[in-house]
Amino acid sequence: MSLREQVAAELERTRLRSAGLTDAVDDADLVRQHSPLMSPLVWDLAHVGNQEELWLVRDVGGREPVRQDIDHLYDAFKHARRDRPQLPLLGPAEARAYVAAVRDKALDVLDRLDPSSPVAFSSGAAGSSGVSPDSARRLVQDGFAFGMIVQHEQQHDETMLATHQLRAGPPVLSADPPPQARAAVGGDVLVPAGPFDMGTSTEAWALDNERPAHRVDVAAYRIDRAPVTNAQYAAFIDAGGYDDERWWTADGWRHRLSASLEAPLHWIRDGGDWYARTFGRTEPVVPGAPVVHVCFHEAQAYATWAGRRLPTEAEWEKAARHDPATGRSRRYPWGDDDPAPRHANLGQRHLAPAPVGAYPDGASPLGVHQLIGDVWEWVDSDFQPYPGFSAFPYREYSEVFFGGDYKMLRGGSFGTDRAACRGTFRNWDHPIRRQIFSGFRTARSATAEESA
Ligand code: AVJ
Ligand code: FE
Repeated sequence: MSLREQVAAELERTRLRSAGLTDAVDDADLVRQHSPLMSPLVWDLAHVGNQEELWLVRDVGGREPVRQDIDHLYDAFKHARRDRPQLPLLGPAEARAYVAAVRDKALDVLDRLDPSSPVAFSSGAAGSSGVSPDSARRLVQDGFAFGMIVQHEQQHDETMLATHQLRAGPPVLSADPPPQARAAVGGDVLVPAGPFDMGTSTEAWALDNERPAHRVDVAAYRIDRAPVTNAQYAAFIDAGGYDDERWWTADGWRHRLSASLEAPLHWIRDGGDWYARTFGRTEPVVPGAPVVHVCFHEAQAYATWAGRRLPTEAEWEKAARHDPATGRSRRYPWGDDDPAPRHANLGQRHLAPAPVGAYPDGASPLGVHQLIGDVWEWVDSDFQPYPGFSAFPYREYSEVFFGGDYKMLRGGSFGTDRAACRGTFRNWDHPIRRQIFSGFRTARSATAEESA
């Protein structure tokens, strides 16, 4: 398959996912706000089309706008999510027609693109947003701008999936249950001290915040072989973890009190048993599956209660990518191959995290499992640029968020597409957020004897 065909296939595959998430509900449901934390689904749909129009049709293609008059409605910086339902948004039929019209033009831009002679796009890329011819070349090299738009749509698809999770009413989504455990995976592993290459300078579709590759020295530490499970997390609840200020940071405790946190989002206690509301169904919590829908503060409190801590972002990535045999960093824990269904629970193939031990083929050389897929993992690092960072192609993807009130999440969830998930991929959110598919694993610094 040529690059052009690959790009077109990824755009098409992604649009089918968006269509599935939006066609699953009726028009009234599409325009409704299911939670003040989320946009109406119809906003996400048109926003995805608007970003595609801005980057592919106007900037890369140098074409006339499809609908310049609606740009402000779908600019995420102009209106907070809670205010979006009040905007004069495109209705469901208009939004569908809009994204289809943009897609037709974007595919035409792709068809006419000649990466070896930048004439086809330089007038657009250099003209409309004032980027240099060199940036224009970078924008289309290896299909980057198209890959960015694929990832952007997939990110919003995951956001729409989280909206579905918050929606009241009977279930409208379905999928096969995740695979069962095939290996017993417990305890932690020692990651010996030493440098590793963090981030990437070679991954074609890596976003600006993943770049460039740089060497990071990491002291010896131990990290869980698997994400913390529902059973482990329930033991923290049973031990009174939510009522004991000792386990929480000052910010965490304040939030625990003001938000009345008592258990992960969507958990319901029935006598001695826990149930969780998942995509409109109430089901028993699976003891061996990773806990999901916890905020950073809950993850941090659990880790402290367990006598441990959350890994740093560098510790997480070293566990996920460093190959002790060769000293080089892999694209994924299992190697350099793109994710296949046997490696990881990604891409909404299932609507839940899989039990620990379900993906032995996805383990790292040191035997760390399920780093990719299942649940986003909170790590104890703030969102900062890597040394040598430069914003590309626009400051609003990453740079404007650096230094803000965010904690990092790594590895992707069952709702993350493989195109939007790599060993280097960096996600971030406010430490109080838990409507996302977030879990965690714990770590601790190695002792002097262990490090020797
Ligand atoms: C990287 C997931 C934090 O959804 O807010 C979507 C991705 N940026 N549209 C988000 C994003 C612009 C972003 N996250
Ligand atoms: Fe967006």
